Amino acid sequence: MISVAIDGPAGAGKSTLSRRAAKALGFIYVDTGALYRTVGLKFVRCGVDTELNCDIEAILSDTQVDIRFVDGEQRVFLDGEDVSDKIRTPQISMMASAVSAKPAVRKFLLEMQRKLARENNVLMDGRDIGTVVLPDATVKIFLTASAEARARRRYKELVEKGEKVTFQEVYDDMVQRDYNDSHRSAAPLKQADDAVLADTTDCDLEQSLELILKIVKEGIN
Ligand code: DC
Repeated sequence: MISVAIDGPAGAGKSTLSRRAAKALGFIYVDTGALYRTVGLKFVRCGVDTELNCDIEAILSDTQVDIRFVDGEQRVFLDGEDVSDKIRTPQISMMASAVSAKPAVRKFLLEMQRKLARENNVLMDGRDIGTVVLPDATVKIFLTASAEARARRRYKELVEKGEKVTFQEVYDDMVQRDYNDSHRSAAPLKQADDAVLADTTDCDLEQSLELILKIVKEGIN
């Protein structure tokens, strides 16, 4: 099986690019951020805030997260309910960042991710795919862009979905999440030694896609 690991900070265009690159390659696209978001939603539903003053293990033991592919599109399920759309809010973004710092949560989601890569050709994106989840991935890419460029893209995305946010809020959230994701002790966001760096600050979507596909094709051959 072939596995492509794409890691990088929030808003680097990972999910859009990964989805399109996977399609071009004929691989399944696994968005691992959606799994952390699903766990984040569970904690919100349990009345917990980002301080996570709760019995994490007890909540996890009563949580079922599933991933299914419908017409090649990933859907995530929380306790049997399709929550793929409900997890795309700023509140869930912050909650996902909080729960993802907890080793128990990372452990809870690890085997599911590895199993997908054992059984399929995958393009998997996240924060620790090349470093922890799939250390033997065929190709590893670290995808990034400046914080300003990433906040601009995320802001546009949220406004198009009708979310009421300001650019400053999105930028501040982005910087806060970058900090959380790269400073936590459990699987922090960092470039794997053998990952290829792809900086898309000055690239549009098509240029970024071309860059990714070039790196993947060079890595597979
Ligand atoms: O990529 P995203 O914004 O959907 O990710 C949501 C949060 O989940 C993000 O703050 C970091 C975390 N995450 C992680 O810790 N490890 C992953 N493999 C994917 C996401």
